[in-house]
Amino acid sequence: MAVSRAIGWELEGMPRIVRGAGSYLYDAAGNRYLDGSGGPAAFSLGHGNREVNAAIAAQLAQVACGYRYLFTSEPLEQLTELVLRKCGPLFGHIVFAASGSEAIEGAMKVALQYWDAQGLPDKCRFIARERSYHGSTIGALSLSGFAERRKSFERSLLDVSFVSAANAYRPPTGVAATELVPALAAELDARIRSLGPENVAAFVFEPVVGAAGGVVPAPSGYAQAVREVCSRHDVLLIADEVMSGSGRCGTWSALEHDGVVPDIIAVAKGLAGGYIPLSATIFRRDIGDAIMHSHGAILTGHTYSGHTAACAAGLAVQRIIEREALLDRVRSRGEVLRAALRDSLGRFAEVGDVRGRGYFLGIEFVQDRASRVPFPADRGLSADIGRRAFQDGLICFPCAGNAGGGLGDVIIIAPPYNASDAELSELVDRLTRAVERSLLQQA
Ligand SMILES: Cc1ncc(COP(=O)(O)O)c(C=O)c1O
Repeated sequence: MAVSRAIGWELEGMPRIVRGAGSYLYDAAGNRYLDGSGGPAAFSLGHGNREVNAAIAAQLAQVACGYRYLFTSEPLEQLTELVLRKCGPLFGHIVFAASGSEAIEGAMKVALQYWDAQGLPDKCRFIARERSYHGSTIGALSLSGFAERRKSFERSLLDVSFVSAANAYRPPTGVAATELVPALAAELDARIRSLGPENVAAFVFEPVVGAAGGVVPAPSGYAQAVREVCSRHDVLLIADEVMSGSGRCGTWSALEHDGVVPDIIAVAKGLAGGYIPLSATIFRRDIGDAIMHSHGAILTGHTYSGHTAACAAGLAVQRIIEREALLDRVRSRGEVLRAALRDSLGRFAEVGDVRGRGYFLGIEFVQDRASRVPFPADRGLSADIGRRAFQDGLICFPCAGNAGGGLGDVIIIAPPYNASDAELSELVDRLTRAVERSLLQQA
């Protein structure tokens, strides 16, 4: 059989997926996998949910998609109402799309169009952070402080200005833990001043960094501090909650935890939980109204923005999460899961940090706990743990490079919000086994 290269990836040797049910996936050879990370933190409700599938099927039986410039639809209207209610009274506009990258492109374009509508078209520069990932399209990649993913495209990327990552475990050299937040706020303030506030459109950050950092929650007080700096300079604050939002951290918006309201939020993965691709750029009422008033339309979006069946999927997922109070569960069981991971993995000297919020957890591995020195890149530790876990029937999300220079190993854990207690225990056991076998380099 010819090897397919349909996803830009070598498929040979991969198991062929045939079925999903709850927290488990099944391959054609009959192997079962516990979904401990939703792939990249995407599958908020697990797999094969009958109610979600029925909602999608019912919508498809009526019509798959009403084109956004010709029709509205009940799922589109109801999902818009639900998402705006979750985001709070300051938010009034949404542009739906399919991927996280598109939601970020949408956020960039809304920011640019807003300043243009205000008669300030020179406000067109973006500031982002080192060790961040915002997507694979040229605009979103330009915002990403992720050298390994930028390398081949560097010369075609936008001129984005980068400030330090906000990582309490790996602070910038010479910055004490107590000084971290004021130092980072001062750095952002100085950067806006040096670029000239009249030239800066927005500062973009992940409230909890995903793949680029291995689940790095902003230190306490950081989000408030950057909010204050941005407001002072009339710079928009864009929260990239593609991975950390839609309830993954136990609050609908990850920034709710910090008590901070951004100007624009990008969400994706958990919104429709992978049942159909769906993302959204959500922005403040005054921003959207100003654009509508000057230009008559928000000039971003795609053919399938507001795709009817995708909205039906998102609506069904979000209604179940709401009805079953799953975010309460994510908050309370998230603490228990983190404690269980600490207990079970703490005996390995190589486990340097277990961190995160809700069902978005990262385990960082180091050669030495005190010095936090990472393993050599060619050891491929996180990939090896991920591979062993997968072979043993557990999906987790290995990521490397968070310590800079290609170094650093983290395993991300992000189970479905409705995973049972027994499944969470199984997750901890299987992960512990994979870590042990990898550290001991057992066959
Ligand atoms: C924080 C963040 N932003 C944006 C993206 C891009 O999303 P997508 O891969 O759906 O385009 C990702 C993907 O992992 C992400 O983690």
